[in-house]
Amino acid sequence: MKRPFAQLVGTGHYTPSKILDNAYFEKIFDTSDEWIRERSGIRERRIAEKHETLAYMGTASCRQVLDDAGLTPLDVDGIVVGTASPDRFLPSTACDIQAELGAHNAAAFDVAAACSGFLYAISAAEGMIASGTARNVLVIGGDRLSTIADYTDRTTSVLFGDGAGATLVQPAENGERGVLATYLKTDGRLGELLCRPGGGGNHPPDEQLLKDRTYFIRMAGREVFKNAVRSMADACDQALQQAGMSGEDVDLLIPHQANIRIIEATAKHAKIPMDKVFVNVDRYGNTSAGSIPIALDEAVRDGVIKPGSLVLLVAFGGGFTWASVLVRW
Ligand code: UT7
Repeated sequence: MKRPFAQLVGTGHYTPSKILDNAYFEKIFDTSDEWIRERSGIRERRIAEKHETLAYMGTASCRQVLDDAGLTPLDVDGIVVGTASPDRFLPSTACDIQAELGAHNAAAFDVAAACSGFLYAISAAEGMIASGTARNVLVIGGDRLSTIADYTDRTTSVLFGDGAGATLVQPAENGERGVLATYLKTDGRLGELLCRPGGGGNHPPDEQLLKDRTYFIRMAGREVFKNAVRSMADACDQALQQAGMSGEDVDLLIPHQANIRIIEATAKHAKIPMDKVFVNVDRYGNTSAGSIPIALDEAVRDGVIKPGSLVLLVAFGGGFTWASVLVRW
């Protein structure tokens, strides 16, 4: 089938209003605002209050998308959520969003691909459109990493924040606007470098889990960094190659917001100047699957993305997973 057969219509996002700045971590760790800003580019991150569940943030994002698209929840026939921090293991967060939204006609499921989750979810939605299974698929990316970050570990907790965003995937209409390329890649051999060792079927909750803190995220930062730079470069190349385009054609690069140094290396590799790169890692930190859809919505609402813009979305995360989606807006 010749692309584009799916397009993205409407955007939305939700981030909690509670801000945790770097000064907070100076009080609890041997760290400094300067170290965090220089090594990661992060100034502050948003932290969810108790009522701001992932389903709450995702539902708020979806309402904005449906408003943009002029649809009601009953028009939705698919809901796909990319996340690594679901509100609970059963049912999926997508089911909870379906119920909260009142989207009673939608099939709903989660996709677990860590920070690449939103792009994997777009690809799943594209498949539903191509197979004729659905015509209006809400795709949500979001994480509430504050619930699985280890606030006794200065090497990881300073990086993470909470938030979600969404878009709607529909059949393409005029053959120009829509998803021009998607690329998904995984290397499970590197899984241990970024993982939550306990809490699942291999280590069900017990007292030991709380003592050894294996419930929380563990990351070998330096190794993850190196792989992120390599994988994000690969993801840029593959999507552009599929579409027969180059970095010079791109109007806006939206990379996963994990670290400003990874973002700059990705842009340099793809030959995209930094004034065509969307950056909000300074304000939100790493929101995992939330990072790209939050940035996408901000870019659309700020007028940075206009009808006809060529937008390259690129992600990397635990698994390892990496991915790219090239869209004509
Ligand atoms: O979402 C996708 C997955 N995540 C990522 O993409 C994150 C990838 N990794 C990174 O962003 C970076 O590796 C970090 C920001 C996590 C760390 O930056 P780095 O330049 O790679 O630092 P490092 O891990 O090599 O650590 C340098 C030093 C170490 O001290 P020694 O061993 O040199 O004495 C760390 O212990 O910095 C120390 N350090 C800190 N110092 C002050 C680590 N965390 C902190 C901290 N404050 N918060």
